[in-house]
Amino acid sequence: MRTVDIIAKKRDGKELTEKELNFLIQGATDGSIPDYQLSAWAMAVYFRGMTDRETALLTLAMAESGEQMDLSRIHGRKVDKHSTGGVADTTTLILAPLVAAAGVPVAKMSGRGLGHTGGTLDKLEAIPGYRIERSVDEFINQVNAIGVSVIGQTGNIAPADKNLYSLRDVTATVNSIPLIASSVMSKKIASGADAIVLDVKTGQGAFMKTLEDSVKLAQSMVAIGSEVGRETIAVVTDMDEPLGHAIGNALEVKEAMQVLRGELRDSPLHKLSLLLGAHMLVLGGKAQAVDEAVPRLQSLIDDGSALAKWRELIAAQGGDPRAADQPDLLPSADYVEPVAAPKEGYLASVAAEELGLAAMHLGAGRATKDDSIDLAAGIVIHKKSGETVQQGELLAELHYNKKAQKEVEEVRSRVLEAFHIAERPNAAKPLVYATVTRNGIVYSRNEGEA
Ligand code: URA
Ligand code: CA
Repeated sequence: MRTVDIIAKKRDGKELTEKELNFLIQGATDGSIPDYQLSAWAMAVYFRGMTDRETALLTLAMAESGEQMDLSRIHGRKVDKHSTGGVADTTTLILAPLVAAAGVPVAKMSGRGLGHTGGTLDKLEAIPGYRIERSVDEFINQVNAIGVSVIGQTGNIAPADKNLYSLRDVTATVNSIPLIASSVMSKKIASGADAIVLDVKTGQGAFMKTLEDSVKLAQSMVAIGSEVGRETIAVVTDMDEPLGHAIGNALEVKEAMQVLRGELRDSPLHKLSLLLGAHMLVLGGKAQAVDEAVPRLQSLIDDGSALAKWRELIAAQGGDPRAADQPDLLPSADYVEPVAAPKEGYLASVAAEELGLAAMHLGAGRATKDDSIDLAAGIVIHKKSGETVQQGELLAELHYNKKAQKEVEEVRSRVLEAFHIAERPNAAKPLVYATVTRNGIVYSRNEGEA
């Protein structure tokens, strides 16, 4: 088999066979196919797409390219949750203790942030003492003991994807539905979850900018999950605007703690956390329906169970348990500077991607994989779209330390550009657009209702 023939076949829009896909993924894993050929193939897929069958075969080949976690020693149905990448999205930190408190085991391996989106692992490192590295045995034992563990990826999960993703990143081939779907699902499958809840972001700050493409991505991932026997459900949710108020690692941990304490009720972050958690309970066999699971989760916040589980999680991972209740034990920035509204009006939109990038420039995120980050840095948003603002009113706060000082004026103008102030209010936008299961798509009836 020759790689050049496989590339040509995809370039001409034909369907690749299982043998051809396995050959490519073998070559992406052991390095026997050079980067330029893998990149050319990715570009051919970008333009020609893949059939459902090809996407499923590619996913399995990538899942099998490295270690496959065996979580069967964990009692109960393991439900994983994955978001395709958001700004001010700290749902994982809320869901892990909350869903565990409801009796669904949470064995979560998380990643780091890149570009304008954050990653759970960086956030956890803002908690003093929290250890993200655990052996597989420690991980499994902890989940069996307290119902939850959140760690960094252990072992060699989907190395073929790792290679391909880094090539796609620099060859403008990330935004391909079959390539994203297979990349995400290969890692989820190799990580050993029994069922998967996906939060597929749509809009300005998401991989997929249109609802149509986001729904297609969701359908593709749900189809792969069903194909390989891992029940998968996807909700398509807004990422035009940051989900919560805090962008940046310690800041996001503090916001997650607020939700766990019962604050920020009915905020988009709170509502989406409950919705995703409710789907996790249903897939985990702990609730019959989402409508029944949402109030149950709320009661676990109200009676302190979720917060108690959060304390247990932090202590079990070697963190300072006092930090579970005392946000001032987390890193905080030396400088906090207000950004004021330049005029009065209605906030028509608050651009997620710009704010994510602005926070990155303050040190909260990475431009490239090897950059270091400042756990205290970031942005706190004080106004969301739909609200009115007066001239001079606080829109956001910039949190930074000395080394980012020279960036501040540029960041301030980026932040100001992200807030679009209009003369008239515009229609409220939904938080949840659609729910995709293997039975089909249900578009949200009630705009804005989770
Ligand atoms: N996240 C992934 O893991 N892979 C992609 O291709 C895109 C986002
Ligand atoms: Ca996230």
